[in-house]
Amino acid sequence: MRAVVYEGPRKVTVRDVPDARVEQPTDAVIRLTTTNVCGSDLHMYEGRTSVEEGTVLGHENMGVVEEVGPAVTRIKAGDRVSVPFNIACGTCRNCLHGWTSYCLRTNPTEGVDGAAYGYANMGPYPGGQAEYLRVPYADANLLELPQGRDHEDDFAMLSDIFPTGWHGTALAGVTAGDDVAVFGAGPVGLMAAHAALIQGAARVFVVDKELDRLRLAEEIGAQAVDLTAGGPVEQIMDATLGRGVDCGVEAVGYQAHDASGQEHPELVLDNLVEVVRSTGGIGVVGVYVPEDPGATTELAQQGRIPFQFGAAFTKGLHIGTGQAPVARYNRQLRDLIVAGRARPSFLVSHHLGLDEAPDAYAHFDARDDGWTKVLLNPGA
Ligand SMILES: NC(=O)c1ccc[n+]([C@@H]2O[C@H](COP(=O)([O-])OP(=O)(O)OC[C@H]3O[C@@H](n4cnc5c(N)ncnc54)[C@H](O)[C@@H]3O)[C@@H](O)[C@H]2O)c1
Ligand SMILES: [Zn+2]
Ligand SMILES: [Zn+2]
Repeated sequence: MRAVVYEGPRKVTVRDVPDARVEQPTDAVIRLTTTNVCGSDLHMYEGRTSVEEGTVLGHENMGVVEEVGPAVTRIKAGDRVSVPFNIACGTCRNCLHGWTSYCLRTNPTEGVDGAAYGYANMGPYPGGQAEYLRVPYADANLLELPQGRDHEDDFAMLSDIFPTGWHGTALAGVTAGDDVAVFGAGPVGLMAAHAALIQGAARVFVVDKELDRLRLAEEIGAQAVDLTAGGPVEQIMDATLGRGVDCGVEAVGYQAHDASGQEHPELVLDNLVEVVRSTGGIGVVGVYVPEDPGATTELAQQGRIPFQFGAAFTKGLHIGTGQAPVARYNRQLRDLIVAGRARPSFLVSHHLGLDEAPDAYAHFDARDDGWTKVLLNPGA
């Protein structure tokens, strides 16, 4: 089968790889209809992870079940499904408590709980930017979707970024009437803004420097904060008459940079500690890593990121972090889409064939104007 393969920094190719197949009785094989490129893929693309060359990329997957193993009883061939990026066993302590992103059984990597498709450190599972995908523990992981092609682009956001944006607001403790600051207007930040508005936030400020992304934030009713037009903290403090916001979401990650493009991994954490009012909450869904050989400081290379923890303590802030447990949210978010209350596809900019993936990675990585979210349609 054809698949998108990581071949080294800034090099992905589309080539033949071994077919995905049922390997365990609890597996299913999915024929992909839509598989997205994610900002998380860019950490690998840019050579800022330990991902192995030859890895098939792709963790934002949906499609139709082609085949199931003999122990799969809930899901059957022909079902249209969304595949959460987390690979969970469904029965360990963390899975049973709703933390499928920290499954204790699916990732053999020493010291890492939680597995994913086609991702550095997340276990030996090929990704879904391919014609077919093997899904372990299919009954536990797959989410059924209505048959047909309706809402394809909206449902494509259920495997990762819509639940992840929602998780950012949940970690931050957003409730109706809150003012919320979202740092990063990439796909995850835009989904966090969409989530906060659905939950009844009074005002949502979205910070970035990419004007096409900020325009999308405004289209859904958020207020754009262009960090090249002045410090984002000052801009939000002015807009809130010096009070700050109730909640903040970090949707940038360890490659955060200033207006000139210089990386400062602590920058957004510092901004959030300053802009969230005392006793408020911060949800960090942007990725930080335990080792980053490409970092500009020795501390950051060891995953040590000094930020204003003293100020955070003094303000009594609560801070939540980590990979999103997609299965905790995807069912409800699917139903919000079907009911017409959520439309996460508003950020989709491109539909491309699998063969166009190398070009898509290059444009999305450059944050080229108008490349806000790329969907690959392998069958098309
Ligand atoms: N926790 C999870 O489960 C999870 C899931 C998916 C993605 N992620 C992570 O979320 C992060 C965002 O993902 P994405 O797909 O939106 O990526 P992206 O790279 O497309 O978007 C990040 C955005 O942050 C902006 N940015 C950079 N520095 C900034 C700053 N100082 N202030 C404000 N904005 C700044 C960039 O211009 C960019 O638009 C990534 O780190 C990704 O790995 C986490
Ligand atoms: Zn993703
Ligand atoms: Zn588990």
